[in-house]
Amino acid sequence: MVNIAVAGGRGQVSREVIDALVVANKHDITILSRTATKDVTPGVHWRVVDYNDASDLIRALKGVHTLLSFVQPLADPDQKSQKNLIDAAVSAGVKRFAPSEYGSSGTIDMPWWAGKEKIRKYLKEVNKDGKVLEYILFQPGLFLDYLAFPYKTAKHVAPLQTVFDYQNRRAIVVDGHEDAVMTLTTAADVAAVVAQAVDYDGEWPIIGGIRGNRVTFSQILEIGEKVRDGPFAVEKVQSQDLEAGDLKTSWALEARHQAVSENQAAGFLTAVPIGILLSSTKGAWDVSDELNQLFPDYEFVGIRDFLANVWDGRS
Ligand SMILES: NC(=O)c1ccc[n+]([C@@H]2O[C@H](COP(=O)([O-])OP(=O)(O)OC[C@H]3O[C@@H](n4cnc5c(N)ncnc54)[C@H](OP(=O)(O)O)[C@@H]3O)[C@@H](O)[C@H]2O)c1
Repeated sequence: MVNIAVAGGRGQVSREVIDALVVANKHDITILSRTATKDVTPGVHWRVVDYNDASDLIRALKGVHTLLSFVQPLADPDQKSQKNLIDAAVSAGVKRFAPSEYGSSGTIDMPWWAGKEKIRKYLKEVNKDGKVLEYILFQPGLFLDYLAFPYKTAKHVAPLQTVFDYQNRRAIVVDGHEDAVMTLTTAADVAAVVAQAVDYDGEWPIIGGIRGNRVTFSQILEIGEKVRDGPFAVEKVQSQDLEAGDLKTSWALEARHQAVSENQAAGFLTAVPIGILLSSTKGAWDVSDELNQLFPDYEFVGIRDFLANVWDGRS
């Protein structure tokens, strides 16, 4: 049994992981939150923290073995909260840390995830004269659950639209890059693998690739046409238009993540598909498989079965 602190533990992704840790029933879990509004599973402790108060953070982290952060990078533009958290973790003697990653390996062309890059650099800097904090970047690619939009398939992660619109049998791809790779992993698999990593006694690898499914855009469309029982309207866009910030398509994303404000929405709903399309042509979503190798017995949900189940009987 170890003490685990979960920063941002009342968020969508963190609650998936907390549920997996609670089921395993091996550890003492404390959510760190800026608010006193408790909204948690019984048996999980709650600690209000002020991310701008170093001594408060250090007190909260005393005795903590593993610190998992799910602080929303969009809501923390300079990543002040996570940097202060890392400093406090070092001062408090926390053994292991996982920053708020849970996405792609590269962040190129995805300005909304620039904060992740800042934290990667910060962690390297903190350890530059010798390791003071063991850490891992959990990278599972995109949640496979999003291909079920608008249906909810995860317990806490809300549905989100993507360039693969299974409901309306349509998709956007970059002309000439149909073989670009996407890694797609269900939120439940991410949570289960993170829980196994928490239990793992060996040293964490820095890159924690979690490869649920590694598929090309063409394969995602081929699976879509099969499970949706009909052809997809595929709109091909040009890289140079995307690089110029133009999304020349007849349709666009409409549903925003809850962390994106109404004011930010219009910009995001264009920037996100552009960023995902462009970054995929540069290999950003082709994540590695360190954790598949570490836990070879873990069976991931396959994309074909998952989507066949989701779309079975749906018009
Ligand atoms: N790969 C994918 O498909 C995918 C999809 C979704 C998310 N993600 C990633 O998963 C991670 C978690 O995302 P999420 O959607 O679960 O996040 P979320 O629900 O939007 O927020 C998580 C928590 O962040 C905390 N928070 C917000 N602003 C903060 C600040 N300035 N300082 C400190 N804490 C702050 C809040 O906790 P309190 O209010 O309780 O303090 C909140 O509950 C992110 O890194 C995100 O990019 C990946």
